[in-house]
Amino acid sequence: MEGTTRADGLLAQLTLEEKAALTVGRDAWTTVAIERLGIPSVWVSDGPTGLRKLRSSDDMSLTNTLPATCFPTESALAASWDVALVEEVAGAIAAECRAEGVGVILGPGINLKRSPLAGRNFEYFSEDPVLSGRMAAAFVRGAQARGVGACLKHLVANEHETGRMYADSIVDERTLREVYLRPFEIAVREAGPWTVMASYNRLNGEYCVESRRLLREILVEEWGFDGIVMSDWLAVNDRAASVAAGLHLQMPGSPTAPAVVAAVREGRLDEARLDELVRELLVFAERATAAGAEPAPAPDLDAHHRLARRAAAAGIVLLKNDGPLLPLAEAGDGVALIGAFAREPRFQGAGSSQVRPTRLETLHDELPHGAYAAGYADDGASDPGLLREAQEAARGARVAIVCVGLPESHETEGVDREHIDLPAQHTALVEAVLDVQPNTVVVLINGSAVAMPWAARASAILEAWLGGQGGGGAIADVLLGRVNPAGRLSETFPVTLADTPAHLDFPGDGDGRSHFTDRLFTGYRSYDARGIEPLFPFGHGLSYTRFEYSGLRVDGLTVALTVANTGERAGAEVVQLYVRERAPRLRRPDKELRGFAKPVLEPGERRELSFRLEPRDFASYDTRVAAWRTDSGEFEFLVGASSRDIRLRETVTLELPDSLPVPFDRLTPLRDWLADPATRERIESAMAGVPLLSAALDSPMIAAFVADMPIAKLVILGALDEPELGELTALANRAS
Ligand code: GLC
Repeated sequence: MEGTTRADGLLAQLTLEEKAALTVGRDAWTTVAIERLGIPSVWVSDGPTGLRKLRSSDDMSLTNTLPATCFPTESALAASWDVALVEEVAGAIAAECRAEGVGVILGPGINLKRSPLAGRNFEYFSEDPVLSGRMAAAFVRGAQARGVGACLKHLVANEHETGRMYADSIVDERTLREVYLRPFEIAVREAGPWTVMASYNRLNGEYCVESRRLLREILVEEWGFDGIVMSDWLAVNDRAASVAAGLHLQMPGSPTAPAVVAAVREGRLDEARLDELVRELLVFAERATAAGAEPAPAPDLDAHHRLARRAAAAGIVLLKNDGPLLPLAEAGDGVALIGAFAREPRFQGAGSSQVRPTRLETLHDELPHGAYAAGYADDGASDPGLLREAQEAARGARVAIVCVGLPESHETEGVDREHIDLPAQHTALVEAVLDVQPNTVVVLINGSAVAMPWAARASAILEAWLGGQGGGGAIADVLLGRVNPAGRLSETFPVTLADTPAHLDFPGDGDGRSHFTDRLFTGYRSYDARGIEPLFPFGHGLSYTRFEYSGLRVDGLTVALTVANTGERAGAEVVQLYVRERAPRLRRPDKELRGFAKPVLEPGERRELSFRLEPRDFASYDTRVAAWRTDSGEFEFLVGASSRDIRLRETVTLELPDSLPVPFDRLTPLRDWLADPATRERIESAMAGVPLLSAALDSPMIAAFVADMPIAKLVILGALDEPELGELTALANRAS
């Protein structure tokens, strides 16, 4: 870690009281400075969607904040599948942080969209760990390139809001590794975040802020994380225990430093553990204030607004476009604009990510239209008069644009949804307009999947997410064809809540425990495994042009193909690469996303794409050896425009690096002993002496019957004795 020599020098000069003080925030948003040694304070601020800086550092309110550019929420950014764009957005947020003296932006949020019911899904990227991890790494790179630290949050298994400060997420080790830790691992290994935020919840009975296995053994020793871990706000319960676990910084400020001093003095806390954290805190403080030494240029807020609008448009997903009805041939009088969200836009989620925008565009202002009708009231009350007014507006138009979605009360930090329906009056409005106007475009404004019982009747459906301050203009850009939509779903949209993978266990039984029984099968992996047709699949999105895929070639771990734009207008395609292990030793999802690219192609243009995979892309986590394993064998590469629209596929045999063998022991089944050349003959001769087993040597049916028998049963049957079993085990483990 750079700067450790200076940190070592400072550490030696600190008193125990000063060291303890450094591990707790000074107030809501700043860390402690030690003036006499020139140790600076660092200001940290939310969040993933833009800078939410309070006017004073001890203010914990949600809205007494400075204006800043409100970018699209992460669910919209992820739907762009454009890592370069996410990096650009994070850079712009960082520029605004620099101008306000903020050293760390508390984002990205990279928990997974395990259930569409989760209240903070708007603030997270995807249901898929690889897409989430790649997006997170891009955000980290973008922010830190501007000298502002990023913060991966919330580590880990904080996928629901209900009881979040005490809930116990029960997650098996393989699922933890392959699904919920994976985005953090990708971002740590690929981008080196300066900070990570440990989450409120417990993981398998232990608070994350007090888990040394999580914060030190996995994060630091396995992944090489070299930053600091801060707690979520108020997440610390026992400061000395969390210091011992490797939690560098308790936030916000709390009077707990004396407890750390006492724990050291009384021998309950090893001072070396404290010193280890303080040294890393000193390096962090230097890193997070280094850029501040230079005067920060005033950010170009006009350019940031344009970027916010461009990013919102890039995330818009054209779910359906019969006709095609879109893009609108013309705007103006023939267009009826319906739905209050068009005039009072929903553009971000509620809670700690909330930004005070520098300006706010509305679809009502940005889309030339004829009649307007509110369609529903904010208070949620159903109003037949509003429906009639909306029908009047739609009836007289050539096309009706209906804006519906989730009000602030449905999508907020701290509360999960109870259903995935739109508010009743929103659904009533869509159906009322569809009754009178076949040319209807439904525009959805929401941070996570919603049910659409009217989907078959709507000619066109646009998923516009919570698009930030430029969202209104972005929707107009797509409706009018100024932007060719290229967003793709980063989460599955189910037909009904009962179809969702976590339906039986989300958010938990009510006893404070949440069992992640959907295990590896989150999102599309679950719909694939259960054979359930989603309403709109992961990776889905239409375009105003058409693309053709050809020439798939697999050479070792490199996959190449050609994509062509066969339509009449330029557009971007999100080419998705999935991998399927044909005969996995361990049960695993049918296919898993392993790469994606987003070429922009002119009409008629053809582009060769190449994906370079790593052995780890084929691995699964084997808890028997507590390690990632790859097995050589047949793998199928599937390339498509969505997880359900596979255009090309090829199966190859791959020679992958041999993994740690699973050690033989008393419970290893007969099948494995007979398959091992080092032990087969000895085992066969032992079997020959016992009638039940000797029959297996001649009868395939009986062989199948005993194949799963643990070797220890041969001792029970008298076919082996313990010394022989010990000798054979040593032989198998040395040989295999
Ligand atoms: C919260 C959130 C976290 C946020 C922090 C500071 O409760 O969980 O995401 O960064 O407090 O506002």
